[in-house]
Amino acid sequence: MTGVVRPAGPGDLAALGRVAYDTAFFGESARRFFPDEALFADLWVRPYLSGGLGFVGLRGGRVVGSILGVTGPAAYRRAWLGAAPTLLSRALAGAYSRLPGCLPYLGRAGLFSLGHAPTSHFPAHLHLNVLEGARGTGLGGRLLDTFLAELGRRGVPGVQLSTTRENVAALALYEKRGFRVWTERERALWRPWLGRNAVHVVMVRRL
Ligand SMILES: CC(C)(COP(=O)(O)OP(=O)(O)OC[C@H]1O[C@@H](n2cnc3c(N)ncnc32)[C@H](O)[C@@H]1OP(=O)(O)O)[C@@H](O)C(=O)NCCC(=O)NCCS
Repeated sequence: MTGVVRPAGPGDLAALGRVAYDTAFFGESARRFFPDEALFADLWVRPYLSGGLGFVGLRGGRVVGSILGVTGPAAYRRAWLGAAPTLLSRALAGAYSRLPGCLPYLGRAGLFSLGHAPTSHFPAHLHLNVLEGARGTGLGGRLLDTFLAELGRRGVPGVQLSTTRENVAALALYEKRGFRVWTERERALWRPWLGRNAVHVVMVRRL
C-alpha cells in the first residue's frame, strides 16, 4: 500500500514543514543542528510552495511524505522572491527566537557547499522526504515518479539533487530511477553533529 499522492499547495506548509524537519538529519530530526523549526520551514519549504513544484504523500489522510522542487533557476528565483516578504516580516516580528542556535549550520553550509551540476542541462532540482514510520512501502518511489513525470510533461530536459552517502535508501532509490552521480566529495559540513565527515553527492538525470 503506497498511500495517496496529490499536488502540494500553500495550505500544506505546516505539515510539510514538519515532514522536512523530522527527516532532515539523515532521516532523523533536524533539531540537533537547527533548533528553530519555524525558520527551517520558512527557508526550505515555504519558497517551494510559493512558486515551485511539489507533491504530498498521504497515508490514512495524514501527510507523511513530500517531494518539493522547481523546474529551473528562474522558477527558483521567483519562489524565493515570493517567500522573502513573509520571511522578513516574520523575522522582524520575532518569529525565529532560536535563530542563534542555527547559525553554526548556516555558516558551515555556506562554507562547505559542493555546488551543483550545470543548470543548462539539469535545470530542475528536488528534495524528497518520507517520515520514518511510513518508509519502505513504495511511497518515496511514487512521489519521485510523479514529480519526474510532471517535469517530463513540462518539457524540462533534466533534474539534479544533492544528498550524501549516509542516505543509503535514497541513493538506492535514485539509482533505480536512472540518476547517476555527477560529482561527490567528502565535506566537513556535518562533522559537529555526525561526528565525522560525510561524502556529499550531486546526482543528475536527463528526462
Ligand atoms: C529515501 C526515502 C524518501 C525513500 O522513501 P520510501 O518511501 O522508504 O521509499 P520506497 O518504499 O518507495 O522504496 C524505494 C526504493 O528505495 C530503496 N530503499 C528503500 N528503503 C531502503 C533501505 N532501507 N535500504 C536500501 N534501500 C532502500 C530501494 O531501492 C527501494 O526500492 P525497492 O523497494 O524496489 O527495493 C526515505 O527513506 C527517506 O525519507 N529517507 C530519509 C530522508 C532522505 O534520505 N531523503 C533523501 C535525501 S536526498
